[in-house]
Amino acid sequence: PPRFPDEVDVFSVPHSRMRDLVRMYKSQLSTTDFNNSVNMSGFLSTLLATFKEFQQHEQIENRFIMDRLKRRLNALSVYNSAVCNCHQDNRLTEMLEMVRGGLDSGRHDQDEFVRQLRRKLDEFTDNFLPHMKEEEEIFQPLLMKYFGYDELRELKQDVLQNHQLS
Ligand code: FEO
Repeated sequence: PPRFPDEVDVFSVPHSRMRDLVRMYKSQLSTTDFNNSVNMSGFLSTLLATFKEFQQHEQIENRFIMDRLKRRLNALSVYNSAVCNCHQDNRLTEMLEMVRGGLDSGRHDQDEFVRQLRRKLDEFTDNFLPHMKEEEEIFQPLLMKYFGYDELRELKQDVLQNHQLS
């Protein structure tokens, strides 16, 4: 994959945090005893915090990266379908709803819920990891092309501060 100078690389630091979160829930998925309600609700609470963080990540990207890139490309009359389709599905909302539903125990068949949770988490992971790769490999080069170096350096600071990663 292409490498860009750290000070203008807007995705690597937040994505390394997001990948850590993915690793954590995957590992918990294999160690959690879903028959134990304390373990189960501990896992779901972590998952809730994780998906809130993913959602915050997406909102920061929309505000500081995607919207600005879209405006820049529009101003130059450049069309790029990748920019238009990014973050448009509501998978994060669905995941948050499912996790919140799970915390509200007694309202569902536990075994069925756990099966569904595993499946949805796997599907989510299968989309999210390539999604981040796409941002790094397609969006970062677009930013390099259409934004100035200093502009990107500032943009990266905004992105990190809003993630509370700086
Ligand atoms: Fe960086 Fe859109 O996830």
